[in-house]
Amino acid sequence: MIKIIHFKNYVKNYFKNVKFYSFILFSPLNNKDWNKISYTKSHFHKGEEYHKKFDDLPGRKIIWEIEKKIIFKFLKNSKIIAHLDFASGSGRISKLLEKKSQKQYLIDSSTKMLKHAKKILKNPIIINKDFTKVRIKKKFDLITAFRFFPNAEPHLRKKAIKFISKNLKKDGYLILNNHRNFWSLPYLIRRLTFRSDGFGMTHAEIKNLLNSNRLKICDYCSIGYFTDKEKSRIIYWPIIKIMEMFLFKKNLKNRLGYNVIYFLKKY
Ligand SMILES: C[S@@+](CC[C@H](N)C(=O)[O-])C[C@H]1O[C@@H](n2cnc3c(N)ncnc32)[C@H](O)[C@@H]1O
Repeated sequence: MIKIIHFKNYVKNYFKNVKFYSFILFSPLNNKDWNKISYTKSHFHKGEEYHKKFDDLPGRKIIWEIEKKIIFKFLKNSKIIAHLDFASGSGRISKLLEKKSQKQYLIDSSTKMLKHAKKILKNPIIINKDFTKVRIKKKFDLITAFRFFPNAEPHLRKKAIKFISKNLKKDGYLILNNHRNFWSLPYLIRRLTFRSDGFGMTHAEIKNLLNSNRLKICDYCSIGYFTDKEKSRIIYWPIIKIMEMFLFKKNLKNRLGYNVIYFLKKY
């Protein structure tokens, strides 16, 4: 009986969410969640359980393990005096860079997410505010912004990049990611096989944000070539891990993975 209900829900959600015409799209559709709740408030109820997903969901875990390597590769031996983790959430990126940074600032609108960050970090400066409603006088030599840009509404993306650029020192670095890369293989295959809601973010949209904000792309790396799924009983995850690691080590310059990590510099 439970299986029948699950199947019914699956079919109902499929017809509700999938945009059958998405295989002919040349640019992304809006995120359906934007009509329900503003992105600024979307993580008010999330905290530790968000953080745990990077360990518990096999697909997410593989991507996170490679993301760590990419971040360290970008930063090489650079010393970080002041790091701002923009939309830091539960402190995942701050924790990774804790030993590399002399001082860490985290800004996020979600109290619950920051509660977890406080728990795992030794000496952070926490700014529990909507960034559009706050002015920071300090300038940073590194700002990170993970899992923010594609999810944020277009007007919020523009405000965010302006805020970041304003608070970044000249020659300072920004690392951000687009984990919903519209022209990646997994997203393209989803659209061609009628399994997509048409959402995503393109490289052109990222570049448009950088124009007029004195930010230039120094390097980028894409991961997640085979699937954008985070859990599945029919995927043999150890093979995915081996193949993703293999491609990462090849140091290929393409944007075919669903998660593109950008290394930028303020000029
Ligand atoms: C998907 S989480 C990413 C967290 C973290 N950067 C990571 O990669 O694990 C996005 C975060 O952006 C925060 N956020 C969204 N809009 C915001 C705003 N206007 N000001 C500050 N934080 C915001 C949310 O509260 C949430 O914690």
